[in-house]
Amino acid sequence: MQRLLLFCGILATFLFVACTTDPVIPVGGLPVIPPTQDPGTTNECEDGIISFQHQVLPLMVSACAYSGCHDVISHEEGVILDSYEKILREVKPGDPGDSELYESITENGDDIMPPPPAARLSSAQITMIRTWIQQGAENTDCGTPCDPQAFAFTADIRPLIDNYCVGCHNNSRLEGGVNLSSYSNILTSVNNGSLMATIRGDQYYPIMPPTGSRFSDCRIEQIQNWINDGAPNN
Ligand code: HEC
Repeated sequence: MQRLLLFCGILATFLFVACTTDPVIPVGGLPVIPPTQDPGTTNECEDGIISFQHQVLPLMVSACAYSGCHDVISHEEGVILDSYEKILREVKPGDPGDSELYESITENGDDIMPPPPAARLSSAQITMIRTWIQQGAENTDCGTPCDPQAFAFTADIRPLIDNYCVGCHNNSRLEGGVNLSSYSNILTSVNNGSLMATIRGDQYYPIMPPTGSRFSDCRIEQIQNWINDGAPNN
């Protein structure tokens, strides 16, 4: 009997630890959404128009796909801001100041999204959301310009990773044990082959990002060109 109690005690402790360290991915895992392909150089966005599908949505999926964020932004626990309809509920088209989504990413208090210790969105990302709301918060699907021959790290590669990946792979949230929030961290995933393998969706690798819009062939080629060039920090 004593042994049984001891065993149960150990099991309970283990279960407790296991629960508290569980990744905050909803039960059943992340929803699988068919990849939308960035139209790249065809159907390019008109001057200054923000593409919901290729700029806003990937950022929302990456930065907000965890529980603290759904609670405040969507008020629906377990729901990921993974579609136009869900995101639009938090937005008043044309009026960022009256949009819960915009308030939550610009707030100074405890309600700031993503919740600390996650880093706040960059000012470029905040401006992008603001501009999209000002432009009427439409479900735009135009392609952001992509030139596979333009592959400088700071200007071309890093913004892609910031927008599509860093929300789940940063200092405070390390999905799969992977951090992509700095050059040296990114280089680790370049050198072990997992960066390209996950964005291409190679066999035995989880495809990344796991939900929402994926990189177009042009983007994948752009990143591959940077790696072929020695993945410089330029
Ligand atoms: C919504 C959250 C989320 C986003 C966004 C995301 N990841 Fe992941 N990533 C995960 C999870 C969860 C795992 C662990 C999955 C597994 O092991 O099956 C993971 C694992 C990985 C791994 C390790 C794979 C391995 O088996 O070695 C790499 C590399 C990776 N991600 C790269 C990326 C890149 C690059 C992007 C952006 C294009 C990205 N991730 C975007 C959640 C995310």
